Amino acid sequence: MSSKRLAPPRRRPASTDAALDRASGILEIDLGAIQRNWRMLQGKVGKAVQCAAVVKADGYGLGASPVAKALAAAGCKTFFVATLEEGLALREILKTAEIAVLNGLLPRTEQDILRARLIPVLNDLGQLDVWRKLVLPMKQRPPAILHLDTGLSRLGLSKAETLVLTGEPDRLAGVALRAIVSHLVAAEEPKHAKNAEQRRLFLAARRKLPPAPASLAASSGIFLGADFHFDMVRAGAALYGINPLTDQLNPMSQVVHLKGKIVQVRDVDRGETVGYGAEHRMDRGGRIATVAVGYADGWFRSSQGRAMAGIAGRQVPIVGRISMDLITLDVTGLDPALVEVGGFADLIDSKNTPDMVGTRANTIGYEVLTALGRRYHRIYQGG
Ligand SMILES: Cc1ncc(COP(=O)(O)O)c(C=O)c1O
Repeated sequence: MSSKRLAPPRRRPASTDAALDRASGILEIDLGAIQRNWRMLQGKVGKAVQCAAVVKADGYGLGASPVAKALAAAGCKTFFVATLEEGLALREILKTAEIAVLNGLLPRTEQDILRARLIPVLNDLGQLDVWRKLVLPMKQRPPAILHLDTGLSRLGLSKAETLVLTGEPDRLAGVALRAIVSHLVAAEEPKHAKNAEQRRLFLAARRKLPPAPASLAASSGIFLGADFHFDMVRAGAALYGINPLTDQLNPMSQVVHLKGKIVQVRDVDRGETVGYGAEHRMDRGGRIATVAVGYADGWFRSSQGRAMAGIAGRQVPIVGRISMDLITLDVTGLDPALVEVGGFADLIDSKNTPDMVGTRANTIGYEVLTALGRRYHRIYQGG
């Protein structure tokens, strides 16, 4: 035994809130910050342009229902989801808002779309033809969105299909077009040649189609300037505090605060290893705090050796392999009074933002948010 034993770990006194005592992690979501972010983006594009909210993937992992309610309360009128099921669930919550389904008008879903008053995003000529046939006999024709692919090769009418449609614009006759949209492939890189190229292709196609509101920009595209705003922008990540600008200070408010519970604190001698695979070896005697968050909670294994956490405002390294339910923090040197069993370590906050957590795991903030696990006790603030 080389290191002198430090004081035994302290236990935190029981809190008045039993849910906090039970929780292995607490995920605080600041709905007020999401509203501020939406207002900021809406202010940036100006009154003539609508800022729609993208709330797919359960509101980027933060809870589509509370997030959408908060955004609607702030004045947002149009929402985008990815899947029909997300659209149906959102319709239960927002009775009057416009809800568009990005993944398109898929076979045998037309009646669901109509019943729930969802707006299908028509992603190919086949979907357009099906929709037109469906709505033509109707007196009050429900709206649809037409999606042109200008470079992502993922969803939307391909260049060849767009050419066909611009040659036969009558295929749109009688279709109530809520918008013509496209999606940028590299908007977070303002100098990327694709931005101007996609804008040019979008403008050229739009000129040959019946008049309809246009939408090209998502979060990062909003910051490319007014030329990219058209009539509607579709903000997702920036609403949730992700930086829409690479290599520049994040103009968005932080939304997420993730705290993991300290479940054990121990002294570890010099030479002892920490975690599976014995990959982290203590080069001096020290103290390890074990926190009840692991890869099953969306804390990426790939962040091994790089991730950090805060305890009482002090940054400490997360050491050793990340396991399913636990991570281990090297808290050597911290006042033992700060590292209490039942206390919390800050895993995501303004010091360790979703973007930073993502970079350290070789991924992006988007994936960090959408991976946030279901075991956290969620607390919604503001909104
Ligand atoms: C078509 C479309 N529009 C808008 C968005 C929102 O993008 P962001 O989260 O970067 O704002 C997405 C997200 O992937 C999308 O697929």
